[in-house]
Amino acid sequence: MKKITALAAFAAVIIIFAGINVRAEYNLGKFKVGQTLTDPEGVLFFKEYRSRPEQPWPEIKLTEKDIPKGPRGEMIRYAVDILTNTESIIGPYGKLKWGEPEINCVACHMADENGLPGTKEYALPFLNLLNDYPKLDIETMKIITVTDRVRQMVHGGPKWTDDTKEMKAVMEYFKWLKESYKIKNGVRIDGTFLIKMDFPDRPANPVSGEKIYKENCAMCHGPEGRGKKNPGYEKGAGHIYPSLLAWPDGGHMSMIPFLARFIYPTMPPGATASDPILTPGEAIDAAAYINTGFARNPIQGSENRAGIEAAYSKAPSLKPEYFAVPQQILDPKEYIKIKYGPWKNPNFFPGE
Ligand code: HEC
Ligand code: HEC
Repeated sequence: MKKITALAAFAAVIIIFAGINVRAEYNLGKFKVGQTLTDPEGVLFFKEYRSRPEQPWPEIKLTEKDIPKGPRGEMIRYAVDILTNTESIIGPYGKLKWGEPEINCVACHMADENGLPGTKEYALPFLNLLNDYPKLDIETMKIITVTDRVRQMVHGGPKWTDDTKEMKAVMEYFKWLKESYKIKNGVRIDGTFLIKMDFPDRPANPVSGEKIYKENCAMCHGPEGRGKKNPGYEKGAGHIYPSLLAWPDGGHMSMIPFLARFIYPTMPPGATASDPILTPGEAIDAAAYINTGFARNPIQGSENRAGIEAAYSKAPSLKPEYFAVPQQILDPKEYIKIKYGPWKNPNFFPGE
């Protein structure tokens, strides 16, 4: 009898631990989806977020062949198609014409050699999304779900609601990635978001950046950064080489250290984190040129989101140190310093 009680107690403990372990999402503690946080609450949120245990980048080599057969596999394959051929499916000339993506998701959430979007190390990968969300969005200071983030990515793509086949497919894909790469619950993973780069202690130089761009980038992204369209573009064929004008002034990629950290382990194609092609100095200069030499539209305000003049005003402590828009910094000397650096902590982005 005693033995059975002990066994039952043991089983209960296991169940309790399993209960904790199967928690699919980050422990938000006292925060709830949709809640608006204050600046100090935001700081606390990210402190907890960063303190999650870290799992190394998985060594598993996943390929398209690992996608299961049957209805689940079909959903996953559809998601791969949406994320790879976004322009043809939801873009303004695509089948569904939702939102305005004139760029494919995979252009930034890059694929490893396996062709699966969001699997390349340090290119904003999708492997750990189910642990990373719900998450605080520093522009709106709201706790958002991963599907909210997906909708933000298509700039006013409200048609891509949670109950669409397309959102369900993409969520199934994210689940499958986490499972297949054997990512534990509640962890952060190394290799996610962007690389930590060895920044030179000097300002970024858009003049040398122009030269680097012309020699290493312009053949694909074009002399004006417009990329190259496929024949049949107006019928939804999309780009063969993506435009570098997809992000607005004030968007994440408009911040030079942020863009440099993206470019360094990914561009020109063939570059990887362990075998980059540009030096960190070349990456910051190229990023400076891309964010200086081409005309862009300013980030637009929306019901939730502040426009460029007020961006990050709700979260002064979380505003990136290198967020430079002339609308907010009237002193030209100060503007140049914030935009081109050198920065105190360029490897840090709030919330990564
Ligand atoms: C021009 C580059 C670019 C394109 C194209 C793009 N994204 Fe993103 N995406 C980003 C950046 C930068 C972030 C980080 C934003 C942040 O954390 O606030 C991001 C974040 C995300 C996240 C959350 C990742 C994380 O680590 O927090 C998801 C999910 C996502 N994007 C999905 C998509 C989908 C789906 C598409 C296509 C419809 C897409 N993105 C297209 C640049 C891009
Ligand atoms: C051989 C063609 C080629 C060259 C050269 C090249 N890129 Fe790319 N670039 C691509 C492709 C293709 C993608 C989309 C990602 C993918 O499909 O792997 C991309 C994606 C990007 C993106 C993210 C998507 C976007 O359009 O905003 C940036 C930023 C970028 N490249 C910058 C650069 C920079 C900077 C250089 C030069 C140092 C460069 N690229 C050189 C082909 C090229």
